[in-house]
Amino acid sequence: MLYNNSMTADAADAPSLCEAFAGRFRVGAAINSWNLDEASREYAAIRKQFNVFTLENESKPEPIHPEEGRYVFGRVDRFAEFGEKTGVRLRGHTLVWHSQCPDWFFTDGNGNSVTQDVLLRRMKEHITTIVSRYRGKIGTWDVVNEVLRDEGGMRESKWYKIAGTDYIKEAFRCAHEADPDARLIINDYNLESSDAKADTMAAFVREMLEEDVPVHGIGLQMHLGPDTNLEKLKNNVRKFTALREIAPDFCLEVTELDLSCYRWNDTAEDVDWTDERTAQFSAQYTELFRFLLELSDEGVLDTVVFWGLHDGISWLNGFPRRHRNYPLLIGRDYLLKPAFYEVIALTDTNNG
Ligand code: GLA
Repeated sequence: MLYNNSMTADAADAPSLCEAFAGRFRVGAAINSWNLDEASREYAAIRKQFNVFTLENESKPEPIHPEEGRYVFGRVDRFAEFGEKTGVRLRGHTLVWHSQCPDWFFTDGNGNSVTQDVLLRRMKEHITTIVSRYRGKIGTWDVVNEVLRDEGGMRESKWYKIAGTDYIKEAFRCAHEADPDARLIINDYNLESSDAKADTMAAFVREMLEEDVPVHGIGLQMHLGPDTNLEKLKNNVRKFTALREIAPDFCLEVTELDLSCYRWNDTAEDVDWTDERTAQFSAQYTELFRFLLELSDEGVLDTVVFWGLHDGISWLNGFPRRHRNYPLLIGRDYLLKPAFYEVIALTDTNNG
């Protein structure tokens, strides 16, 4: 694939996403601790383009706490040191999730399901240990991830089956106790495309706010696709900004942004990157960023994180099936796409 412009994201004279949006919102990426070798090309692009980061996998329950009482902190410590050294913002992802979570949380020595008391005790120990260790270093936590069903209602995970919605509320209380200054987020996907899921999210967060549960914002993953309806996205996001009527500082973060060129259940072989796709991709990204700037002007959004550094290492090349994908503003080999420049150009008109 060729782009008209052959500038790369790590070039000294390349424009920078985080500089362009400074004063509006931070721009970030999901990375892995092995991208933090200072001599690497990844590191140069990381430092040039972004100022907020999430670990793609290494701080999830399975890798960080594989067995009861055994934590594996090394890679997350490296991430925390990087944040301290450079002053960038770090996001912790994620404390409680149904996926990539070891089974020991839910079972006793005989393989039977544990009681609610046992599960909540284990969860609290997990959250307290991790959040206290990174207190003052990891500024934002995705406390719970994907706790809702696409069709609306709560996801019937092992967490939910054993502890109802109590585990969610307790998770927030416990994270807040461990680091009262951290921003605490409830993170989920398809909030832009499923009206029922967005309604459940708005109602559940309202319930938590009314009960003084320390939830500070909603994380909109925003794994988008060619059919994403941006009007619907805006309408659903407005259901969340309305929560500021009861909690004036309530915020939104875009936590895992990418824009696949395949529909989710598309079995197509690899597609080529045509001029037509380039134009549609740029149009979708620019319309989205116009809206994100509007949210930033309202003071409700200060963080936008892409799920990956460049197209070549995006999870969407291998999931839900293997095909070549092009979901980010930065292409393979760090080449900058036309959409990269068009999105940055929005900051001129908006500042003007
Ligand atoms: C979800 C999770 C992320 C990541 C992506 C796929 O969105 O929140 O941690 O696993 O799926 O990479």
